[in-house]
Amino acid sequence: MRVPFIAGNWKMFKTKAEALEFAEEFKKLYKGTDVQTAICAPFTDLEVLVAAFRGTGIQVGAQNVHFADNGAYTGEISAAMLEEIGVDFCIVGHSERRQYFGETDETVNLKLKKLYEGSIRPILCVGESLEQRDAGKATDIVKGQLLADLENISAENIRKLVIAYEPVWAIGTGRTATPQQAEEMCAFIRNTLIDMYDEDTADEVIIQYGGSVKPANATEIMNMDEIDGALVGGASLKAEDFMEIIDF
Ligand code: PGA
Repeated sequence: MRVPFIAGNWKMFKTKAEALEFAEEFKKLYKGTDVQTAICAPFTDLEVLVAAFRGTGIQVGAQNVHFADNGAYTGEISAAMLEEIGVDFCIVGHSERRQYFGETDETVNLKLKKLYEGSIRPILCVGESLEQRDAGKATDIVKGQLLADLENISAENIRKLVIAYEPVWAIGTGRTATPQQAEEMCAFIRNTLIDMYDEDTADEVIIQYGGSVKPANATEIMNMDEIDGALVGGASLKAEDFMEIIDF
């Protein structure tokens, strides 16, 4: 059985002081649920969040990592640096990184492989643009991303993978995919994993939906059979809203 998993993605929001303020407020609201919960925060917030959430069950994730062990990569952060801080998850291949920072399927694949050398679980983001959806290419695009991003990754590692289906046209736009559209693509992703690996392996992968998830639509999305969780951007910035989503 897959445990539902809801993760916040703060993107480039919240200073360290603001992150601490959120953590204190969120801890008061959070009663512990059956839903696995994490906050993916900017690098500068990770250490304080890990400390603030220790013993609560609330987990912490980064939003990016470099694929090299170390080296002359100004401005980058390695998997070992994240391991030492004690983060549980790392988002890889978010569409904003693909769009603005030159992330490619090749670098996504290298980053996944680097994370799998340690214990941080990747949250791999895939999803099509509006243009691609309108051209009827949504499933082809997502399949292409899965094949390339997961190339040469073992079934054993795939079992620890979280995939977030995030249609680019639904991110930060207020335009949510309909629960049916999200459901269909999440089912397609699982079927693709069955083809690439096997049913038992595919069964273990948590598949989230992401894109304008908020308290008002969380229940409907989370109740879909093929959707195991959510990756929540804007609505994870307020403790009350995020708690409402977890309590869907
Ligand atoms: P949003 O972002 O919830 O603000 O649409 C989701 C994401 O980009 O992960």
